[in-house]
Amino acid sequence: MPAIPGRSALDYFPNQINYTSLKAAADGCMGCDLYKTATQTVFGEGRIRAAEIMFVGEQPGDEEDLAGHPFVGPAGRLFDKALIEAGIDRQKTYVTNVVKHFKWKPRGKRRIHEKPRAGEMRACEPWLEAEIQVVHPDILVCLGATAAQALLGKDFRVTQMHGMWIESSHAGKTMATVHPSSILRAPDSETRAEQYAAFVNDLKIVAGVIN
Ligand code: URA
Ligand code: SF4
Repeated sequence: MPAIPGRSALDYFPNQINYTSLKAAADGCMGCDLYKTATQTVFGEGRIRAAEIMFVGEQPGDEEDLAGHPFVGPAGRLFDKALIEAGIDRQKTYVTNVVKHFKWKPRGKRRIHEKPRAGEMRACEPWLEAEIQVVHPDILVCLGATAAQALLGKDFRVTQMHGMWIESSHAGKTMATVHPSSILRAPDSETRAEQYAAFVNDLKIVAGVIN
C-alpha cells in the first residue's frame, strides 16, 4: 500500500526534539504534496548552539533541491556576497526556509520556482517553529515577503518595514529584509543595484547589534 500523506509536518515529528532528530524526521515528511515532485527535503543548516542570527527564506530553489542544502544556488551566492559586505560570518548563522521542499513547474527543460500555497506553508510550519525552538537565535531575519508574512503576519509589508526591528515572540530581535531572489529578478541593473544596496544596508543594521 502506498503511504498515506498526513495533514502536516506534525504527523512526522520525532519523539525527542533536537536538531538531529528533526532533520532526520523531515527527510521522510509527507505532510503535504510537495515531497512528491521534489528531490529531497532541504532542512535548515548552520550554527545550532549559540547561533546569533537565524535567516528564513521561502523555499529551496532548483540547485538547493538537487544539493540538499539551503541557499546554495544563485540567490545563495548573492546572499553570501551581501553577508560578507555587511560583515556577517555565515558560519555563525543558521539558514532555513518556510517550506522545505522545492515547488516548481516545468518550462521547457527547466524547473521554474512556484510560490507555495498558504496550505503548504501551514503544513510545513511546524518544522520552522521547531527550528526556532532548538536554535533559539538572538536575532531572526526574514528574507522576503513569504517568510515575513509567515512569521510576522499576513499584513506585513517588506517594502515599507524592511530594516526595522519588529516585536515578535520568535526571538529577542526580529527583522525582515528583501529576498535575494527578488534582487536577481530586478527589471534593470540600476534597480538591482539599489535593491542590493538596501539589502546590504539592512544586514549592516543586523551586524551592528552583534559585532
Ligand atoms: N530561495 C529561498 O528562499 N531559499 C533557498 O534556499 C534558495 C532560494
Ligand atoms: Fe513536509 Fe514541508 Fe515537504 Fe510538505 S513541504 S512534505 S510539510 S517538509
